[in-house]
Amino acid sequence: MPKPCKLAAGNWKMNGLRADLSEAESLARAFTAASCGILICPPATLIAPMAEALAGSAVMVGAQDCHPAEKGAHTGDISAQMLVDAGARHVILGHSERRADHGETSHLVAAKAAAAQAAGLVTIICLGESEVQRDAGQTLGVVLAQLADSLPAGAEAANTVIAYEPIWAIGTGRVPSVAQIAEVHDALRAKLPDPAISLLYGGSVKPDNATEIFAVENVDGALVGGASLKAADFGRIITALHAA
Ligand code: 13P
Repeated sequence: MPKPCKLAAGNWKMNGLRADLSEAESLARAFTAASCGILICPPATLIAPMAEALAGSAVMVGAQDCHPAEKGAHTGDISAQMLVDAGARHVILGHSERRADHGETSHLVAAKAAAAQAAGLVTIICLGESEVQRDAGQTLGVVLAQLADSLPAGAEAANTVIAYEPIWAIGTGRVPSVAQIAEVHDALRAKLPDPAISLLYGGSVKPDNATEIFAVENVDGALVGGASLKAADFGRIITALHAA
């Protein structure tokens, strides 16, 4: 059975101006022949210039959201085909910040993922429990329900990556124990429609904790927020993933 691909993915969220393309360029200079996938998902305004700056390099460019429709009267939205046209290869979908800020449900995430996959994008589908849900012992139930409802038909390793991001660990500096990460990743692996789908961990991944997290079985990489903004920090995380 093919092993899941390792992937270090950076989510720049609503951060980054043209001047910050230099961070992506220095990352591409540092990792010329990567032994794992390297991806940066900048804000939409930077997808095309970043894809141009990184053309021919080992660093791929992705997006942070797309609309489920192919095109039409949806002011302010971006279709999957537009992301492909701008140079994106991946798209993050169902991030907890979009679920919270924009009321995105798992069913909407599945519709977006179907559109993105039809356009040829690899979808990084995010799942994760709140602190209240964890404290109530609901973590596995919540995350597995999100998995069941957020994946479109036809999800497989070639078009799908899953990111487990506990909401309480995002941007807080708090990280679950390795046993807690292992418990969720093991449960997810058992329910994947294709066991070769890559499972990323996300939430306060830093250079200092990356090695420990990547040693957990069924962790195939990371979705990194704040520490992906600087090439030096993200580079240390990528090096840790290479070594894992
Ligand atoms: P931080 O790495 O900043 O905690 O963000 C994680 C995240 O939300 C990545 O999508």
